[in-house]
Amino acid sequence: MSEYLVFLHANQVVTVDAKYTTAENPLGVIPNGSMVVKDGSISWVGDTRDLDLSQYSDAKQIDCIGKTLLPGFIDSHTHPVFAGDRAAEFEQRLNGVSYQDIAKAGGGILHTVEATRRASEDDLYESAKQRLRTMMSFGVTTVEAKSGYGLDWETELKSLKVIQRLKNTLPLSVIATYMGAHDIPADYRQQENGIDAYVDVLCTQDLPQLAKLGLADFVDVFCETGYFSVDQTRRILQTAKDLGFELKVHAEEFSDLGGAALAAELGAMSADHLLHINDKSITAMKESGTIATLLPGTAFYLRLSHYAPAKKILDIGVPVALATDFNPGSCMTENLQWIMTLACFQMGMTPAQVIESVTLSGAKALGLEADRGSLSPGKRADIIQLDVPGYQHLFYHVGINHLDSVWITGKKVE
Ligand code: NIG
Ligand code: FE
Repeated sequence: MSEYLVFLHANQVVTVDAKYTTAENPLGVIPNGSMVVKDGSISWVGDTRDLDLSQYSDAKQIDCIGKTLLPGFIDSHTHPVFAGDRAAEFEQRLNGVSYQDIAKAGGGILHTVEATRRASEDDLYESAKQRLRTMMSFGVTTVEAKSGYGLDWETELKSLKVIQRLKNTLPLSVIATYMGAHDIPADYRQQENGIDAYVDVLCTQDLPQLAKLGLADFVDVFCETGYFSVDQTRRILQTAKDLGFELKVHAEEFSDLGGAALAAELGAMSADHLLHINDKSITAMKESGTIATLLPGTAFYLRLSHYAPAKKILDIGVPVALATDFNPGSCMTENLQWIMTLACFQMGMTPAQVIESVTLSGAKALGLEADRGSLSPGKRADIIQLDVPGYQHLFYHVGINHLDSVWITGKKVE
């Protein structure tokens, strides 16, 4: 028997569906809107006055008066599988030591790698589960989760198994990314040509083994001065692409090294960070259809004076996805709503641009736009209800959690 769910009289249904968008209504907002969900998918969206309720007399009805319905948020860039913390480094940074200097002294990512190598799979699973649940409590229904605090085959595999368990046990939908090239392991760093030697291991052993296991959808590389060069990144990503993985790149976070142009050249699904991206690389991303994933939480958390040029990227015509980059070093927060606020206040994005960036564009950054990212008939019923009368209030009333309820594939989970 079909199972219907009817959402009635929402103050706004924010569809993010091109069918309803206009220049004056860029998010396709339907005032006094209603929705029907059937067997986990959206089957009808529209003005409440056009709904023939008699068709759904046995359905469960949800009263949404005074509230706003949106597509579930998509956090398309996170690093939730790690042990330990970096609170001491945080304090050092407040005393004037930079993120890069901490890394050079053996801290930073490598500090977390040591703790993660020692941790059991169960402990990593429990802490990551808690973090993903917190993300969900802010309205996230799909999350991308990276490995990358192992930097050896055993620990990367342990981390990817944790992500697999999260996928199988949590209501929210989890997309796995392998990031063995997040940093250079300490023992390789000490060798002459150690980075190339590590890249060699990734390309000839780890990636081919991983391709057989099916534990990751994406491969990501930290392309940055002091980490992986453009040529080293190209070798890793080309190998990954040949093995059938989709690609992402951490690019132009601290310098304009060329990672974004490389992402475009290889047809990566997204290039992420982009604080120092140049105009030519933005144009290359537009031509290749590569999404710009911006992570303003890191600029805030590292107290940088510079943010990614979000408005220019949008003006050139590259869709922007916003994500938390949740990680223990450069952005220790699961709160995507706060990142959305930062995008308005620090990058000048409009509330409508921000909503699109965590829904439809977030879906595009994961290649999932065909089945989520908007409230459109036929898509998954990943729906959030916010306790606000309209989407602008999410940004106007700062610093609190506006979430009321979450449904994932039509099931209430929060
Ligand atoms: O995306 N940039 C590289 N990786 C993370 C930081 C990871 C860490 O500091 O633990 C990032 O910002
Ligand atoms: Fe990151």
